[in-house]
Amino acid sequence: MKNNFDKILRQENFSKEDLVTLISACKKDMEKLFSRAREVKEKHVGNKVYFRGLIEFSNICGKNCFYCGIRAGNKNATRYEVKDKEMLEAARYAYEKKFGSIVIQSGERNDKNFINRIDNLIRKIKQLSSGKLGITLSLGEQTEETYRQWFESGAHRYLLRIEVSNPGLYPKYHPADKKHDYHRRLESLYLLRKVGYQVGSGVLTGLPFQAHEDLADDLMFLKDHDIDMVGMGPYIEHADTPLYKHRNMLLTKQERFYLSLKMVATLRLLMKDINIAATTAMQTLDPGGHEKAFNAGANIIMPNLTPAKYRENYLLYNDKPTIDENTDNYIKSLKERIYSAGYEIGYGEWGDSRRFFKRSER
Ligand code: 5AD
Ligand code: SF4
Repeated sequence: MKNNFDKILRQENFSKEDLVTLISACKKDMEKLFSRAREVKEKHVGNKVYFRGLIEFSNICGKNCFYCGIRAGNKNATRYEVKDKEMLEAARYAYEKKFGSIVIQSGERNDKNFINRIDNLIRKIKQLSSGKLGITLSLGEQTEETYRQWFESGAHRYLLRIEVSNPGLYPKYHPADKKHDYHRRLESLYLLRKVGYQVGSGVLTGLPFQAHEDLADDLMFLKDHDIDMVGMGPYIEHADTPLYKHRNMLLTKQERFYLSLKMVATLRLLMKDINIAATTAMQTLDPGGHEKAFNAGANIIMPNLTPAKYRENYLLYNDKPTIDENTDNYIKSLKERIYSAGYEIGYGEWGDSRRFFKRSER
């Protein structure tokens, strides 16, 4: 008789219990899970890895998430804003290297000056690439009007992680105030969809107080909200944050790494045709993190194109790689690693979520 794990791997639908079984897989079963996820990925989204050049615009943030190193309350962070000229240079670099698209990420700000600067950058980046470079934003919770303004200027994808999908757990990681309201975050995801973006979300894996059941619920959340693209990675502690005091509750870094790989693979079985990122946090915990994530079902990578002098200040967590070699060498070695892991690169393509287009056709 085939064991239960093998049977679950072949299913088309999964109960919460099945998901818990998959993300709790032992070493031997884990390899089977990864190999099934790879098979599903190749069948539904192909063998290509898509590049999104990540530009970390600013580490100035008005929020105070308990896990994050650039939270407003961290007085030890050196704050920066990338200059417009440098943003355009980074975008041009992505365009010339045939990245297909970029991601503009920043701490959360809602002031007019910020909103208009981003708007202006979106337009200029579209201009310099004759409309060809895709633009994803990752700029937190904004009003519908702001989301619409940026969309109309040319951004077409937006990443907003729910971080933890259980409203009961949300206050464990965020201050209990209006700025950190679970329902407002959820509402933002609806607004993004309403405006017309391809919507990305994701969660943190391996937080203190988080059980495998919570992670299974997180995966169900992504499915129930029909998310187009997902970025999720391991939680990594940062010494200047409130959550650091609970570090004795954490799994080891290796366990957190494998847990996040199992989350990726399980999500690939659950949502076959979406885009899933191999995240920087995974690479931080394991030198082969990106390749292992591709082998477990991921198909997106976000190489860091933030101008080198700012990189060490976008420190969400300890040991985040700042890449000291020059950008050309870094990109070259990334490409070599992707090829030697057996994947192709989607040069000059937006690599949009297939899920999104299938929904539009319905
Ligand atoms: N460990 C891992 N990821 C983190 N992020 C913030 N702080 C941490 C941390 N300590 C993630 C959040 C956010 C993304 C930009 O970075 O999930 O959405
Ligand atoms: Fe700000 Fe995002 Fe960090 Fe929260 S996770 S403190 S919103 S940068």
